[in-house]
Amino acid sequence: MNNRTTQFIGQPVDRVDGRLKVTGQARYAAEFFYDRLAHGVALSSTVAAGRVRDVDTAAAEQAPGVLLVLSHKNVPRMPLPAPETPQNRFSRSVPLFQDTVIHHHGQLIGFVVAETIEQARHAARLIEVSYDAAEPKIGFDANVENAYAPKTVNAGYKTDTERGNLDEGLRAAAVTIDAVYNTPIEHHHPMETHSTIAAWDGDRVTVHHSLQMVVEAVPAIAATFDIPRENVRVLSPFVGGGFGCKILTRDNAMLPILAARLLKRPVKHVLTRQQMFMVVGLRQHNRQRMRIGADAAGRLTALGHDILTHTSMHEEFVEQSGVISRMMYEVPNSKVTHRVFRLNVQTPKWTRAPGEAPGSFALESAMDELAAKLKLDPMELRAMNDTGTDLDTGKPFASRSLIECMKIGADRFGWSRRSPTPRGRRQGHWLVGYGMSAASRGAPHRGASANLLLTRNGRDVRAVVEMCATDLGTGSYTVIAQTAAETLGLPLHKVEVRLGDSALPPTPGSGGSWGANSFCTAALAVCELAKQQLRDQASLRFIREPTAAELLQAAQLNGWRATHTATPAADMASYSHYAFGANFAEVWVDEDLGTVRVPRYLAVIAAGRILNPKTAASQVVGGIVWGIGNALMEESVLDARRGHFVTRTLADYHVPVNMDIGDVQVVFAPETDTKVNRLGAKGVGEIGITSVAAAIANAVYNATGRRVRDLPITPDKLLIET
Ligand code: MOS
Repeated sequence: MNNRTTQFIGQPVDRVDGRLKVTGQARYAAEFFYDRLAHGVALSSTVAAGRVRDVDTAAAEQAPGVLLVLSHKNVPRMPLPAPETPQNRFSRSVPLFQDTVIHHHGQLIGFVVAETIEQARHAARLIEVSYDAAEPKIGFDANVENAYAPKTVNAGYKTDTERGNLDEGLRAAAVTIDAVYNTPIEHHHPMETHSTIAAWDGDRVTVHHSLQMVVEAVPAIAATFDIPRENVRVLSPFVGGGFGCKILTRDNAMLPILAARLLKRPVKHVLTRQQMFMVVGLRQHNRQRMRIGADAAGRLTALGHDILTHTSMHEEFVEQSGVISRMMYEVPNSKVTHRVFRLNVQTPKWTRAPGEAPGSFALESAMDELAAKLKLDPMELRAMNDTGTDLDTGKPFASRSLIECMKIGADRFGWSRRSPTPRGRRQGHWLVGYGMSAASRGAPHRGASANLLLTRNGRDVRAVVEMCATDLGTGSYTVIAQTAAETLGLPLHKVEVRLGDSALPPTPGSGGSWGANSFCTAALAVCELAKQQLRDQASLRFIREPTAAELLQAAQLNGWRATHTATPAADMASYSHYAFGANFAEVWVDEDLGTVRVPRYLAVIAAGRILNPKTAASQVVGGIVWGIGNALMEESVLDARRGHFVTRTLADYHVPVNMDIGDVQVVFAPETDTKVNRLGAKGVGEIGITSVAAAIANAVYNATGRRVRDLPITPDKLLIET
């Protein structure tokens, strides 16, 4: 269907749920109302290691309105999780307070439920916790000697890879780079904090919870409460942002479910903004050594990328920061390694573009350093080392339009106006610089199921598409409606989309940039199936593609129902699937103050067919804004003695505000991909953040001649002589 002129797919359609959102009618997890709804507040550990000695709840229990105070002292026994396997990663039980061990500061150790949120908060303050505190392992440098090689890194990627011989490749090089890049701990901060309402009816439970992946929540809740999966219903119709921290169903959700069961009344729990720094995952500090060698012309001879990072004391999560270096360029000698050590810091978790976001900062900064040494245009260096084969897997890229992205971008951005040498342009006391970077992000596609309900009332034909997918604010409702309207030949407003309910057909949820393409392929397939079934019923011949309305009329039916599971194409695994992009940044650096401004930013993205350029561009802009945050502001600072985050509000943890964002442009490069899925669509959820920090750091170098390898690029790093 790639070449057909389309009515809806590919059009910049306004969000079909926009009206619900701006009128406040879109209901998020905390906005469902139940009789006798009680309110829970979670208690966090104030030490980072050791054990809880005692929890004195006497005063809290006497406080007005208090219904329940839960701690390790009175919690019922709960099933312990099975050993983790790739299959049960999301579906293991999440037992609460079953022991007294503290793994990190902020760990949830108690839960107070009261008639009102104010009463619960008040009572939580009356609880006295005593600890047998231990010396926490906090500092990166102090603990790095304990680094080990994990079995695999996130998403099952290999820990270490080598092709050719890195050392020989480096020796053969005319020019080499050997540099270390640091990216700090960062936190996701979706607008909506994690919210839950749990209501039991006998042995059945309904859970409203803000989630990216609803399907996986069901087995996790069933295992935690030892009930059959069919007794669990999870609802997440609207989600106020996810970015990776809403993939798992964690203790913050299990607590109100447990309390509601014990109290036999519904319980609500909403994490505070401060708690978002403590218990829902983070992007960890990555220290990355890059070694690159090239011949005198700029052809890469060697690329080494060694990552050091930390996980928690009790779980292992290792961001795959080296994967981008394995596939990005044509380089015969390559070695990529990941090492990890344990800290008394909460377990790092998926954070938008896990792997690529920090990995691309190291790789694309080092490429810029190499280009400077070779006196080559950095874009030319990348073009010269482009490859049609993913050298990590040996598979051809189904589509790869990096060079087109760079060409379009250079033209639109005015790249030719860049000064080839640093400090070549100024505007008063501002040093002006241009920087670019190349980007890639995996373009996975997954099987998904959908229901279609068609109803006819005379000439009025309507469709409902249902699936257990999520819309994190990204536009899932809209692109699914576009796909169904197009396929059925119905006006857009006659298609209703229902999502975020575990009772609906399963999908892989929103994550890993596979959401939109997987959901829409399922919508396409179920609409086609229904039309085929109606054709068989109607036994009429049509001279052109009939609409669903014509088919229902011809078959003299008032309704039709179809369910279908779309599976990825058999030859999908024969190719390597990535989206590519090119980033261009203009920065102005105040020579006296070291402040960096980004007045202009352009991203050119090739992601196959763009289902909706408006919602897709919004996603990419969001990624760019976060990338500007990574580059210039964001840093979660740990107190090295006590292990708490000293940046624990959005006043301390700086993110870009409107004033910090200049003219941001997103252009989609035309690209046809016939392999990734039937729609030819790749995801755009994560490519937008990839390599943004490098483009800005490279522009800062072009402006100032200063190479900053430790993010964020705060003014001190540009002013202090090194
Ligand atoms: Mo994404 S980090 O898989 O939400």
